Amino acid sequence: VKEVLRVLVTGAAGQIGYALAAMIARGVMLGPDQAVIIHMLDIPPATEALNGVKMELVDAAFPLLKGVIATTDVVEAFTGVNIAVMVGGFPLQEGMERKEVMPKNVSIYKAQASALEKHADPNCKVLVVANPANTNALILKEFSPSIPAKNITCLTRLDHNRALSQIAERLNVHVSDVKNVIIWGNHSSTQYPDVNHVTIMTKDGEKKVRELVSDDQWLNGEFITTVQQRGAAIIKARKLSSALSAASSACDHIRDWVLGTSKGTWVSMGVYSDGSYGVPAGLIYSFPVTCEKGEWSIVQGLKIDDFSRAKMDATANELAEEKSMAHSFLE
Ligand code: NAI
Repeated sequence: VKEVLRVLVTGAAGQIGYALAAMIARGVMLGPDQAVIIHMLDIPPATEALNGVKMELVDAAFPLLKGVIATTDVVEAFTGVNIAVMVGGFPLQEGMERKEVMPKNVSIYKAQASALEKHADPNCKVLVVANPANTNALILKEFSPSIPAKNITCLTRLDHNRALSQIAERLNVHVSDVKNVIIWGNHSSTQYPDVNHVTIMTKDGEKKVRELVSDDQWLNGEFITTVQQRGAAIIKARKLSSALSAASSACDHIRDWVLGTSKGTWVSMGVYSDGSYGVPAGLIYSFPVTCEKGEWSIVQGLKIDDFSRAKMDATANELAEEKSMAHSFLE
């Protein structure tokens, strides 16, 4: 029998939290034979809503769900957790600039880093979803020095999944027949969705995407901007930001990290850069990774053309700016 795992969701009374908690309890994140105890953290004004989510989780009578902790106490929330999905934070509201929310998130992530370090399982795997996701993850990493750097990641899997599905729609194939897109860089509009290594499974075997989509203009233009701006398109349509697809992609991220990626397939994860592909070390940057036995590694040796290089550098520059902005609020 597997040990019961404790999974923390911060911001659990919010939109993503509502979708995510149920997916975790259903086994979508960790598999159909992994029992879980869900820890849910939110802030005091959300106490009642948080308790409502707990009531619904209980009512759903999930066989894998062995317990639910709903709390506004950061220490209680982090105690003993094996996996932490960080969805809580100060949102970017209409009319606000990134630099206005940055100091608030820097202080939230600094405080939560110390709870993570003191109270979580020492090998806790962390996924930051809340925006600015890469920079929040970086602050978390910097202020929890005893947690291995490789344990702190951020979500770009939603962008990755969006890119796969745009190609699938274009070619009228199923999304599971498309693989190995890459999201490079920041989870922001400067991210670079790279199709140069994408393959499609057809009845005549595996084909490169550029063999099947003859329209380079689409691949080098509209495809990229559609993926970059998909989040904004969802907000326009729903008047709320993407929640079910974000929750589902967060489950994909953790599942592949813990249980492994399938052979010949990689996924995109925001991870602490070691300098691969000339990306400055010390940024949390989205790379193509494969996962095995609970560890990710960056796919090496991919050819990068000039078009890609420029876009990879632009998104790295944005992350370096975010990093120095975040640090300026710590002085
Ligand atoms: P939401 O506003 O519905 O929920 C956020 C929750 O966080 C609220 O319940 C709020 O009370 C809580 N919260 C605020 N400060 C907190 C703190 N210090 N500790 C714990 N909880 C706290 O927002 P939603 O739609 O669930 O989105 C959450 C975040 O995820 C946003 O930052 C959003 O931009 C980001 N996001 C990231 C995506 C990605 O692909 N990386 C995709 C979609 C959203």
